[in-house]
Amino acid sequence: GYGISKLMSTTGNVTLDPGFTNTASCKSEITYIDGDAGILRYRGYPIEQLAEHSNFLEVAYLVIYGELPTGAQMEHFSERITRGTMLDERMRDLFRCFPRRSHPMPVLSAGVMALSTFATDSLDVFDQDQIELATHRLMAKMPTLAAYAYKNSVGQPFLYPRNDLGYVENFLRMSFGFPTEEYELDPATVKALDTLLILHADHEQNCSTSTVRLVGSSQADIYASIAAGINALSGPLHGGANQAVLEMLGRIDADGGDVNKFVTRVKNKEAGVRLMGFGHRVYKNYDPRAAIIKKHADEILRATGQQNALLDIAQELEQIALSDDYFKERKLYPNVDFYTGLIYEAMGFPSNYFTVLFALGRLPGWIAQWREMMSDPDTKIGRPRQVYVGAAERNYPGAEGAA
Ligand code: ACO
Repeated sequence: GYGISKLMSTTGNVTLDPGFTNTASCKSEITYIDGDAGILRYRGYPIEQLAEHSNFLEVAYLVIYGELPTGAQMEHFSERITRGTMLDERMRDLFRCFPRRSHPMPVLSAGVMALSTFATDSLDVFDQDQIELATHRLMAKMPTLAAYAYKNSVGQPFLYPRNDLGYVENFLRMSFGFPTEEYELDPATVKALDTLLILHADHEQNCSTSTVRLVGSSQADIYASIAAGINALSGPLHGGANQAVLEMLGRIDADGGDVNKFVTRVKNKEAGVRLMGFGHRVYKNYDPRAAIIKKHADEILRATGQQNALLDIAQELEQIALSDDYFKERKLYPNVDFYTGLIYEAMGFPSNYFTVLFALGRLPGWIAQWREMMSDPDTKIGRPRQVYVGAAERNYPGAEGAA
């Protein structure tokens, strides 16, 4: 039922599994998902507990190193990260070269590659100290790179990071602040964004993470592997779905807000009409991340005093869909993206910045998966096979001799 077929290729038996719906590419100790039960755990800890009791930097440590940090370990980790947030001045010049208003995702990816040219002391993929250095650097500099990518996209001046601010605070200030005035941090926004980053920290072998592993399996350094992951994430089927949800809600609103009418169009399978933010390849139950986000959506939207027409539509859509046979039979439930776009918009992020936020959250997962792969003695270069379906052997015009 999974579209898997065993086929004879020219060199023996191969398994054809388009989309890898049923093929594991590795063993991993990082993230556990039970899609039928709607369970997600990092290193054994339920996502609900981490979202409620931990913070993004601690979760990053957990995901990367496998255990929660002791007080001293956490202090060392955050110290290394806080003190590493600056970029070389020439990186600022580089950012100035990108066209104004370019999309922040390619700029972020280019920024990570550029970072590697300044980080030649951390490119040895077998040296543990260098891997540590690269880990701290990437965690430290990614928010600065992300904020610069954003500032470039809106044509505003770059801000230097500040060492007295926390990870999320620094990022928000570098994104929304101006060099000439104090930036007022809203604690509810800081907390909500921290939680959203936790929820995105890892999700086993999704498209971008598989890409990081595949690129890294050639022993490409961690910067090259993670830049590739960012590129994989940039596609609308992966990182871009929350933007699509927002657009869908906007269209329903503009059309008079008739949710039932829209659901009927979805059920009739009108061309291109899907309930965006519903359904998931792995979760055939409520996505546990969506459940956590839902609680925050209400809170943050009301706290920021946003008009809630779209949230109301989202909630009504969810209610109708969850009690409808079409969605029940197909096991379609809200996924992580159903509410994130609304929250990001309420926080003031433009929609082309949403995927950058996803990348910021997913970074610990990419780092952890790259490190796990490099330390696994069973790792081989990733090299899928194919089933050749092209032309049989034939002669080039004028040439003779082929069978
Ligand atoms: N709205 C309406 N119908 C849907 C939806 C949806 N969102 N998702 C699936 N279906 C239906 C399909 O039409 C199909 O019905 P059928 O059996 O009558 O033909 C059935 O459910 C199975 O769907 P598939 O497309 O085979 O499921 P797949 O696992 O390949 O797709 C996916 C999963 C891509 C997430 C899909 O559910 C979808 O397109 N959802 C909307 C986009 C979205 O929210 N993406 C974000 C995913 S989360 C992430 O990447 C972080």
